[in-house]
Amino acid sequence: MSVELKTEKLSSEDYIELENRYGAHNYHPLDVVIRNASGVWVYDVEGRKYLDCLAAYSAVIQGHCHPKIMAAALEQAGRVTLTSRAFRNDQLPLLLRDLHELTGMEMALPMNSGAEAVETALKCARKWGYTVKGISERKAEIIACANNFHGRTISVISFSTEAQYRFAFGPFTPGFKIIPYGDIDALRAAITPDTCAFLVEPIQGEGGIVVPRDGYLREAEDICRAENVLLIADEIQSGLGRTGKLFAHEWEGIHPDIVTVGKALGGGYYPISAMLASRKIMDVFHPGDHGSTFGGNPMACAVARAALKVLAEENMIERSAVMGAYMMDQFRRFGSPDVRDVRGRGLWIGLEMKSEARPYIEKLKGEGVLCKETRDTVIRVSPPLIISREEIDWALERFARVL
Ligand SMILES: Cc1ncc(COP(=O)(O)O)c(C=O)c1O
Repeated sequence: MSVELKTEKLSSEDYIELENRYGAHNYHPLDVVIRNASGVWVYDVEGRKYLDCLAAYSAVIQGHCHPKIMAAALEQAGRVTLTSRAFRNDQLPLLLRDLHELTGMEMALPMNSGAEAVETALKCARKWGYTVKGISERKAEIIACANNFHGRTISVISFSTEAQYRFAFGPFTPGFKIIPYGDIDALRAAITPDTCAFLVEPIQGEGGIVVPRDGYLREAEDICRAENVLLIADEIQSGLGRTGKLFAHEWEGIHPDIVTVGKALGGGYYPISAMLASRKIMDVFHPGDHGSTFGGNPMACAVARAALKVLAEENMIERSAVMGAYMMDQFRRFGSPDVRDVRGRGLWIGLEMKSEARPYIEKLKGEGVLCKETRDTVIRVSPPLIISREEIDWALERFARVL
């Protein structure tokens, strides 16, 4: 028996009206209603074509509807999709091995969303603090950076410095200290014998594509090692090739104790995230300590395996480095008086405007380029890593008109 979903062909305005009427207003999306997509291109319900320069906040770096990821998803969808971790499945072990071989990290713990991977890392760090480092009960502290973005759960927003992310959501989780991003002396001063971890984005994404000065992460790693503090790199947005290296922290040649990944791990098809760590650290988790009904499900794992495979096979990381350098150089040549700064790494570029970014975003949409502002004044440019030189030039022509 097949289940027929009623198909309705409505106009963009009708869809927007329905969404506004029946959905929570927790986003301020661009009014473009996407019906289908392929590669770097998306199409709205009226058939208008746009170049996707957001890539779902970097979750579709492999391009929309990548045929090999789709094939893996379809195949797995007809085989088995969900077992829970009460039983084992034949995809999770293979993904764990793939993650190890690709990243060099010894072990992985799969979850679903990025925020959950961060929560997992925080729990792991605290438990390591109590059971390995010997911090007294309830005293463990985690240091995070101002202007961070690590997700939206209560504990994660407990150390956000964005007023709106926190407003009227308290009381918050204690045990976090906030220091300025990029300030190595502040890190040194903040560490106490009760510090179990330092959580940092190697490049702050939602914070406005903020690249720390050279040496910052290396010095942070040295301090963490000397003080027996775990270094947690949140690579949920910056990882898996976005910056032109597998991980953004590789630009500094460091080896974090814990790395969180998400977004692109799902190849645009299925939410999956993971916390990666050494065996010594991961061993703090025992059966029953932590889990998720959907974490490590065979559907997600099959998709993630395909997502990682095409990343390597199609040299997407190298493409990000080459195409990103080209695009950044072109942006810098614009010399637009409206642009205060052009920064980023690989195909992850922030254009800091001298005024609100939203009007430029709306104009770009009119030109067929979809971007999203971050932190009011920054236009984030982060297309799928498969973007070609011709497609970049197509976009640049439109950026030039708007900027
Ligand atoms: C660095 C970082 N960590 C965590 C998250 C949260 O991921 P999710 O939205 O999947 O919970 C994000 C999302 O943008 C992110 O950029």
